[in-house]
Amino acid sequence: MGVFFTGCEKDSPASIEEVTQDFTGRNTWKIIQQDILDQSCTDCHTVGTSFAEQSDLILTADVAYSQLIDRVPHNQAAIDDGLELVGTEGLSSLYKSYLWEKINAPDKDHFYGDHPFYGSIMPMGLDFLTNGQLEFIRQWIVAGAPNSGVVADSTILQDTVRFEDFLFEPLALPESGIQYHIEPFEVQPNSEVEFFMRTTGDTSGPVYISRYELMMRPNSHHYILYGFSNSTPAALLPPEGVVRPIRDENGDYILSTFLSMQYHVFGLGTQWRRLDYSLPPGVALYNSNVHGFDHNPHYFNYSDTTIIGEVYVNVHMVDPSEVERIAHILQIGDNSFYLPKGQVTTVVEEEYFDQTLYVFELFSHAHELNTEFAIEIAGGERDGELVYISYDYEHPPVLELDPPLVINPGEGFRLIATYDNWRDYDVSFGFLSTDEMMILFGKYYTD
Ligand code: HEC
Repeated sequence: MGVFFTGCEKDSPASIEEVTQDFTGRNTWKIIQQDILDQSCTDCHTVGTSFAEQSDLILTADVAYSQLIDRVPHNQAAIDDGLELVGTEGLSSLYKSYLWEKINAPDKDHFYGDHPFYGSIMPMGLDFLTNGQLEFIRQWIVAGAPNSGVVADSTILQDTVRFEDFLFEPLALPESGIQYHIEPFEVQPNSEVEFFMRTTGDTSGPVYISRYELMMRPNSHHYILYGFSNSTPAALLPPEGVVRPIRDENGDYILSTFLSMQYHVFGLGTQWRRLDYSLPPGVALYNSNVHGFDHNPHYFNYSDTTIIGEVYVNVHMVDPSEVERIAHILQIGDNSFYLPKGQVTTVVEEEYFDQTLYVFELFSHAHELNTEFAIEIAGGERDGELVYISYDYEHPPVLELDPPLVINPGEGFRLIATYDNWRDYDVSFGFLSTDEMMILFGKYYTD
């Protein structure tokens, strides 16, 4: 239950539509060509080089636009995955863009881990593009990748920080807040490990969370931090510091773990290995924290050697006097759907709200059979407007909305999730990776 959603004012070019040039007299595409492609790409992607032959891609100013737009990639794995170099459908084109896959260095783990045949991150052998250059290109694709007009703010290019590779290492202690460390555990070949562990530490009692950081060893599926509802019966409160697996050796749910899960209140979570997330200024997540927190790591190991899981979590907390608005968790989902074997099924779920929500984060959660997860605004004048889409169940994009997406009273969200059940048995909602899920998570505040 719950809801959330967000808008994409951040991504909408509407407010600057009439502007056709920036102060330097250049439109967005021209800036991409001159300040990014001509600087970092055209040495290789130019007529006559072996690189141009290997990639079948020329990025010099005379042809770059037509070489990229609505063009099928040269790379076979990318073709098989249904990607195009750059489409013009906006947000949905972003996650089908092979150009975006090839340059999006912060997603590098995913790129090499999940797409071994996609070749190298570009620019090949050189420093990654800066975060500003990536964001500029991202906004251009989200705006439909036009060859004229200003659809991204060129001041973004002043962010010259570059993503750097990272190893797994402990996080520095937070200045104000608490660090949790889930100690190393083994994940046997061709298996998965998911458990809960409760801590109370010295944080029992209300906390206001302004920021959180995560660092996980590779092959993680997710980490979630839950609180417990105030009404949790004492008899079901798990002991502290004890690892409670979700399944026994036969793969069956362990009842006591299962019962404690009924009282969980979602706190924070991610499917990214490394995360440093700050709430908007003055906004904090409230957690009553009467019974401490329950930590939930989940690892898959599809390889034939044992791997090690390990997690560090920093929860940064602020004094209530610094909090102007309380953030709430949006959680909308359906757990009664049914996916017949051998069929493609689309599940639609709507939820409406009777107050104004300011949604500043959205992300979807599903498992392996999910091929597409779209979120639309439901009700009101914007009914049917696409605000989020994911084609990647393992790394669904986490959409941050600044300014927030405003959902007016009577409006809500429509979740449209498509599943391809290629298995030879029917599948329904459940907690195993072979079960399915359909959840929209987000964060919002109200007036
Ligand atoms: C040092 C040479 C070099 C540089 C610099 C370089 N590339 Fe590439 N690029 C290649 C080679 C070689 C391939 C083919 C192999 C591969 O995909 O890894 C390629 C492939 C690509 C592809 C995939 C084409 C397809 O359809 O399969 C894209 C997209 C791409 N490059 C974009 C860029 C962009 C954008 C830049 C600049 C930010 C860039 N490249 C810089 C050498 C280079």
